[in-house]
Amino acid sequence: MRRVYLDHSATTPVDARVIEAMLPYLTDKFGNASSVHMFGQEARAAVDKARRQVAALIGSRANEIVFTSGGTEANSLAIRGICEAAEAHGKHVITSAIEHPSVRGVIDQLEKRGWDVTRLPVYEDGIVRVEDLREAIRDDTILISVMMANNEIGTVQPVKEIGEIVRGERDREHRHLWFHIDAVQAAGRLPIDVQSLNCDLLTLSAHKIYAPKGIGALFIRRGVRIIPQQIGGHQERERRAGTESVANVVAFGAAAELAQGEMDSRNAHTQRLRDRFEAEVKTRIGDLVLNGNPEHRLPHLSNISFRFIEGEGLLIHLDMQGVAVSTGSACSSGTLEPSPVVLALGRNDELARGSIQFSFGKDNTDEDIDYAVLALTKAVGSLRAISPLKFGVRSAESGVST
Ligand SMILES: Cc1ncc(COP(=O)(O)O)c(C=O)c1O
Repeated sequence: MRRVYLDHSATTPVDARVIEAMLPYLTDKFGNASSVHMFGQEARAAVDKARRQVAALIGSRANEIVFTSGGTEANSLAIRGICEAAEAHGKHVITSAIEHPSVRGVIDQLEKRGWDVTRLPVYEDGIVRVEDLREAIRDDTILISVMMANNEIGTVQPVKEIGEIVRGERDREHRHLWFHIDAVQAAGRLPIDVQSLNCDLLTLSAHKIYAPKGIGALFIRRGVRIIPQQIGGHQERERRAGTESVANVVAFGAAAELAQGEMDSRNAHTQRLRDRFEAEVKTRIGDLVLNGNPEHRLPHLSNISFRFIEGEGLLIHLDMQGVAVSTGSACSSGTLEPSPVVLALGRNDELARGSIQFSFGKDNTDEDIDYAVLALTKAVGSLRAISPLKFGVRSAESGVST
């Protein structure tokens, strides 16, 4: 059976060139980067080089990069780290309604501990409005955390405009306001420059850019003080203790350099495949809704709700035909919860449960698209043929049919 992987927002395969770069650090060059001897020095030099490569991807200084175990840890370190450090200046945080669970979860926990939280709505196009943000800022706001691009619908947020508002606030003596961006999905797909973004903290994860899982980074602007969340070692300039995962760090550096050099060609390729996929699906399958802003979104991602069917059922049917995709639904206490991101667009439960995300990668081919379109047409056809929803009373429709 043919296997077609269309779930690159969940993770990507490791690039052969990345494996080649990291391999020596799993074999001969196995030293601990903190050791004084030559094995240690070899590892230290490799970590330093990777730090420069990752910094180059986002326009930061190398010493502003802190390696972590991934995007989840970097988000935690950024949000908890700032909130704990700046508590005396205020306890109000602003975020968006569609953040990744690793941001949402930490902020929900802060709220339970007495922090005030404003969650900016995203409207039908999945994008926050800067006017809403401007209105939400208070004198006791210390953190704004808004993602650069969403992992389910791919919409790109106006982070540059948000950064300008933050700069303006500082100009009017609001000194204790920090701006964090989760750029896990955007990295390698959109150009990132932490200087023009005016952000203080920015999260990255390696496994979304063809490097292994379990390695990420947090950009912490020079002069920004955070409370470390993992302590007991001098690594990462005391901002994140623990022996560096040298091979993974090297892999991340190599992947960052490749992502930077190949960004345009990868984007052109995935966007062409994505657009072709969407055009064919629209022609062959009716009763569907595209979720998110069709222009302001990542070039490799498509999120579609298929009416009358559950996304989870569709995912399984596609999997049986060798096509791998995702839903935004999560299993909670034995029941399937609709995607909170799709619900935040104002879609009803039926559409939020029927949503599927297709995310394309640099190694997908036109044949993959042909196969996936065929498999999807078959799967939707058989599920709709037995769908009770199709014959039931339909709830109020929201969204624009495509
Ligand atoms: C937007 C976003 N933030 C954070 C993460 C978490 O990154 P990691 O898997 O490296 O912990 C992900 C992963 O899916 C993501 O898509």
